[in-house]
Amino acid sequence: METGQHDNPTVPAHGRQVIYLDNAATSFPKPAQVAEAVSENIATVAGSAGRGTHTFAVAASQLLYEVRRAMSDLLGTREPTRWAITFNATDAINMALKGFIKPGDHVLTTSIEHNAVARTLRYLEKNRGATLTKLPHVPGIGASPADLPRFLTPKTRLLVMVHASNVTGEIVPVREMAAAAHAHGLPVLVDASQSAGALPLEIDEWGLDMVAVTGHKGLLGPQGTGALYVRPGLEIEPLRHGGTGSFSESDTHPDGWPETMESGTMNGPGCAGLLAALRWISARTVAAIRSHEVQMMQYLLDAFAEIPGVEIYGTRRADMRAGLVCINVADLDPAHVAHELEQHLILTRAGLHCAAWAHQAQHTINRGAVRFSVGPFTSLDDVEAAARRVAEIARSAATFGA
Ligand SMILES: Cc1ncc(COP(=O)(O)O)c(C=O)c1O
Repeated sequence: METGQHDNPTVPAHGRQVIYLDNAATSFPKPAQVAEAVSENIATVAGSAGRGTHTFAVAASQLLYEVRRAMSDLLGTREPTRWAITFNATDAINMALKGFIKPGDHVLTTSIEHNAVARTLRYLEKNRGATLTKLPHVPGIGASPADLPRFLTPKTRLLVMVHASNVTGEIVPVREMAAAAHAHGLPVLVDASQSAGALPLEIDEWGLDMVAVTGHKGLLGPQGTGALYVRPGLEIEPLRHGGTGSFSESDTHPDGWPETMESGTMNGPGCAGLLAALRWISARTVAAIRSHEVQMMQYLLDAFAEIPGVEIYGTRRADMRAGLVCINVADLDPAHVAHELEQHLILTRAGLHCAAWAHQAQHTINRGAVRFSVGPFTSLDDVEAAARRVAEIARSAATFGA
């Protein structure tokens, strides 16, 4: 894969060699170019976009433009200016939901949403008189377009759905869901936090009206970056008001995109890193990244399936899920399993993963689970080592009791 320091995915972290299998939380390592771009931005061109006309300020504005264009090209939209740069997916989702939902609106959603969607919808239910219906969970695909019509009401105004669940790994058929929603005049908002950069996603072709992404997972950029796409013709209210670097003579917030959504100084160094990451993904291609991650996942799934006492949640077909899987081992506490793995420098995530609804759907709400998630730099050695350690943990649980 990549040349240079990241040839070996078990790169040093805090002076130790680790096997990092928590890419669903945040990807690691990043392409080497990402850190270089952040550092170069801070050291050489850290101007403030839209503020002033000197070289640094113009370079900062140009950088934001390049990020929008790279995002637009990678994720299949025609209009780069309809990408607002945000601080993460949570920020983008809040902007979309709070900017679009009006008092009394009814919102349809899935049963496997992350708290970024679930809690924002609950907030709108409590404070804006919105109502909410969760579509039934359909194992394997999260939600089905066939269910949509029977939950529509005259007040239904939006369908919001995750593309790939960070807990079940299910890939929701968002293209078919959008087609079903559009048949009833309903726009859709897609939470692509776990899919952008890692799974095929063609926003315009699939007819997705709004899409929220985060910069630091599959997009391989720095934390503190993300973006919200809103198709031309669909308007939302800005969440924040303030300085945009434009129309500074006026104390009224401007309404042109993208600045209407981007008050305040943007994360320039983060955007420089994100741009390097987007270019790296474009050169590598999402198809190649996906194919690699499916191979790594299939190895893990097959190996886990052979270990007595390991319970795998969801399908054992890697090509039918995002690059992550939750398991439990015998009656062991997931935190104990993750701790044992970390003793061998294998980093996973244990417990509940910021998505109560998805854990309910997966029947792990009381116990949690251990999540393994791969990335473009995960190697066969990594997944072999992880499977071997899980087998040892399961064996000692069987021998000595949980
Ligand atoms: C499906 C999903 N949605 C939203 C988010 C929120 O992403 P961020 O924390 O970057 O805002 C996550 C992060 O775990 C996620 O997995």
